[in-house]
Amino acid sequence: MKTQNLIQDLQLTITNWKQQQMTIAFVPTMGNLHAGHLELVKAAKKKADKVVVSIFVNPTQFSKDEDFENYPHTEQQDIEALITNNVDLLFLPLIKEIYHSQTKTIITVADISNLHCGQTRIGHFSGVATIVCKLLNIVHPDSIFFGEKDFQQLAVIRLMVRDLNISVNVESVAIIRESDGLAMSSRNSYLTIQQRLIAPKLYQTLCNARDKIMQQQSDFREIEEQQKQYLTTAGFKVDYFSICRVNDLLLANKNDKKLVILTAATLGKPRLIDNICITLES
Ligand code: PAJ
Repeated sequence: MKTQNLIQDLQLTITNWKQQQMTIAFVPTMGNLHAGHLELVKAAKKKADKVVVSIFVNPTQFSKDEDFENYPHTEQQDIEALITNNVDLLFLPLIKEIYHSQTKTIITVADISNLHCGQTRIGHFSGVATIVCKLLNIVHPDSIFFGEKDFQQLAVIRLMVRDLNISVNVESVAIIRESDGLAMSSRNSYLTIQQRLIAPKLYQTLCNARDKIMQQQSDFREIEEQQKQYLTTAGFKVDYFSICRVNDLLLANKNDKKLVILTAATLGKPRLIDNICITLES
């Protein structure tokens, strides 16, 4: 595996591959890689001749009170995992390689960026859209891979790619979970032993809500309130628990058929997010 820190070097490699008619799949990450990230790498391997992974903890998607300074860095471990998974190129830039000191341009995908996570993480999705757009302009892949774990992020990126006519296929990979159902996340490492025992309840509430919807319970707002109550009693501070329409992530009602239940809650220090999709028969 090649590791490159400079845009210029990376682009020489990419140009060389493209001259040989090779296809390129790209997996952007912030490192601290776990089986969820590696599933994206495996899917990317199946799709293209060459796989590029980036590790870049993007400062512009963290607000001042978030964990940018303490975000886990496990570079050596990550490199070994990427080599084991036959990644061809790791892009590992410094902040100054990516952001001009007087950068003036931000990409904001309107409306959807203000929902759910966007209500408390002000500017987060602009930070994500901007870095993903920049990375796409640097790497020029044929396809880019995201996890469904960050469902709203995926929706924001799909809209950005559509609206800016970016020539790339956006591919998504299902959520990878621990054996007790907890969605894998770099932030799970912040959980204490006690909190780690409680954490799977986030997924359990999503399953409970899904079962109620499948049993024809149609008062979605009541289901949301019940599950929020359950999580609060278990020790979570619930940010949101919302039964939404898959296409625009607005609150769903009983006539909607394609649903996603989105939730975010803090448990002590870490903020956990999760979701589950449901398709009802029409
Ligand atoms: P990061 O949190 O490192 O995640 C990188 C990718 O891994 C994302 O597409 C995320 O959805 C996916 N992922 C994380 N946990 C997963 C799981 N349990 N199952 C499946 N996929 C999972 O998301 C980011 O980084 C950043 O916002 C980024 C897109 C790199 C922009 O900075």
